[in-house]
Amino acid sequence: MKNKLIAPSILSADFARLGSEVEQVLASGADIVHFDVMDNHYVPNLSVGPLVCSALRSYGIEAPIDVHLMIRPVDRIIPDFAAAGATYITFHPEASDHVDRTLQLIQDVGCRTGLVFNPATPLDHLRHVVDKVDMILLMSVNPGFSGQQFIPRTLEKLAQARQLIDDSGLDIRLEVDGGVKLDNIRSISLAGADTFVAGSAIFSAADESDPNRYDSVIRAMRAEIDDTA
Ligand code: DX5
Ligand code: ZN
Repeated sequence: MKNKLIAPSILSADFARLGSEVEQVLASGADIVHFDVMDNHYVPNLSVGPLVCSALRSYGIEAPIDVHLMIRPVDRIIPDFAAAGATYITFHPEASDHVDRTLQLIQDVGCRTGLVFNPATPLDHLRHVVDKVDMILLMSVNPGFSGQQFIPRTLEKLAQARQLIDDSGLDIRLEVDGGVKLDNIRSISLAGADTFVAGSAIFSAADESDPNRYDSVIRAMRAEIDDTA
């Protein structure tokens, strides 16, 4: 696996032609598909569920699908996402009454696990479960919407999470989500992130009539981060 991964968030894609949008960002060099699930309860917005994940698999999408659950409660829907073809299932610790149990459940259904930290949520939740986590996702905006501004203090938190991962000696990805753009992705990478979610920066940067419309933005992002490993 490449060290630095670009993960377009489907939230900014054209949902009327989602399969082809996802196919095109992958063909343009994206690595994984970031799949935002919102319930109008844990966050004030509503998006998609397992049916749409499964539809992407049926359409032929083979890349890893990184399911970001912004829902409460969490556990009931996990087996459904596993059956729908999720690769990672990440959740917010505040949204689960039993964080260790939820991580275990994700492992039991054969998916990779992740914990997601809101801007004001400390990393403390990791202390006793770090060995059950495959991905740490730091929110650099408050969850719920694409197109928000990157919160600069995330850079310090990224450095803290990077240290924690390195000290653990475990193979854990460090993902960042929210307001990632061409002009800040380099500093985010230098702070320690290895997986970059980008919604509006990728999907809105395009001329609809061009079949290779995502090539230039993804190539430009890659150029910003490739030498920061
Ligand atoms: C926000 C979502 C993000 C969002 C990112 O709650 O988790 O994945 O789509 O969008 P941008 O990159 O536009 O901030
Ligand atoms: Zn997300």
